Amino acid sequence: MDSHFRGDDVGFRDAAWDLVRRERSLKHNILADELERILAAASPQDSKAKSFLRTLSPSNGNLPKDKDKNANLIELSDPAREMGDLVLAPDLRVRLDRVIAERRGADLLHSHGMQPISKLLYCGPPGCGKTVAAEAMAKELYLPLATVRFDAVVSSYLGETAANLRKVFEFARLRPVLLLFDEFDAIGKHRTAFDEHGELKRVVNSFLQLLDGFHSETLTIAATNHQGLLDTALWRRFDDILFFPKPTTEQIESLLCRLFSQITLSKSIRIRAVADSLEGLSHADVERIAQDAIKQSLLNDRREVRPDELDAAIARQMERVRVTNLHQESEVEIKPAARRARKTR
Ligand SMILES: Nc1ncnc2c1ncn2[C@@H]1O[C@H](COP(=O)(O)OP(=O)(O)OP(=O)(O)O)[C@@H](O)[C@H]1O
Ligand SMILES: [Mg+2]
Repeated sequence: MDSHFRGDDVGFRDAAWDLVRRERSLKHNILADELERILAAASPQDSKAKSFLRTLSPSNGNLPKDKDKNANLIELSDPAREMGDLVLAPDLRVRLDRVIAERRGADLLHSHGMQPISKLLYCGPPGCGKTVAAEAMAKELYLPLATVRFDAVVSSYLGETAANLRKVFEFARLRPVLLLFDEFDAIGKHRTAFDEHGELKRVVNSFLQLLDGFHSETLTIAATNHQGLLDTALWRRFDDILFFPKPTTEQIESLLCRLFSQITLSKSIRIRAVADSLEGLSHADVERIAQDAIKQSLLNDRREVRPDELDAAIARQMERVRVTNLHQESEVEIKPAARRARKTR
């Protein structure tokens, strides 16, 4: 109030967000939602997540730390990407929308003695949107994104990794965040794999216990591209398991249209034929090709992508995929037509 009459707008907003948090901690969710709606409408750029981050960042001492290295165990960020930015398989989008609807209707579900989805496993090949969809989910739900830093969590000291995991869950229990265990296989690999000293087994067991006993407003997402390596005991701990597949030709086409929306394409380039030739690649591969071609045309001082620039970008990315596959023994199937993008037009 004081800050309002002093004309201190920032102070007033901070105090208002504090009030939202206090009301929420008292489980006065309807009032908290209403206040939040008013605040968000008054300053759309000042998202709840941003405000929440502001209260945490001045004292990063709030973040859980590893005892040995004193490193932060999680990284907090204000999510930027939105669901609408993503090109997703229709059934996957339906399932993601369902999660969003359940989370938004949490109060209603609670009042009927039901819990909204709170633990998700995202799996699927690299570069098909697991991380970015977790970020977009945080944005949709106005939650700060708390990404677990495995480099800090996994400790060489016996027992310390499990203690770190406990700290991470405790942090996420005390305030609602989107808790992301990205590239989760770092701790979730099959219990017998590489487990000479039994430490991995202990870590996975404590993760399972923590996940099982974890009930809070936080939405937990674990993401992996090695789902085959995960212990089956892990699977049933999740409320839903979402698979992020490689894009279909139609999805590649729509991705290319978005990626090239800011620049002119030469009239001789047929996006549909290009999309056909890129079947088998991931969203990230397609994005890299488009960016590579755009950069080349900008460096050539033009605002139009020529067919030879696009072909060169495709060839570079195909080579990169080939080399990566050699190392990863991945099963990416590249159609021979991919190398003939130009001729198929
Ligand atoms: N469905 C999608 N729609 C639009 N862009 C996408 C999509 N998926 C991925 N991308 C682009 O590719 C980049 C890499 O995607 P992301 O990091 O989410 O992949 P991932 O599935 O998490 O891969 P990894 O298994 O290697 O972690 C993103 O930053 C985004 O720009
Ligand atoms: Mg990822």
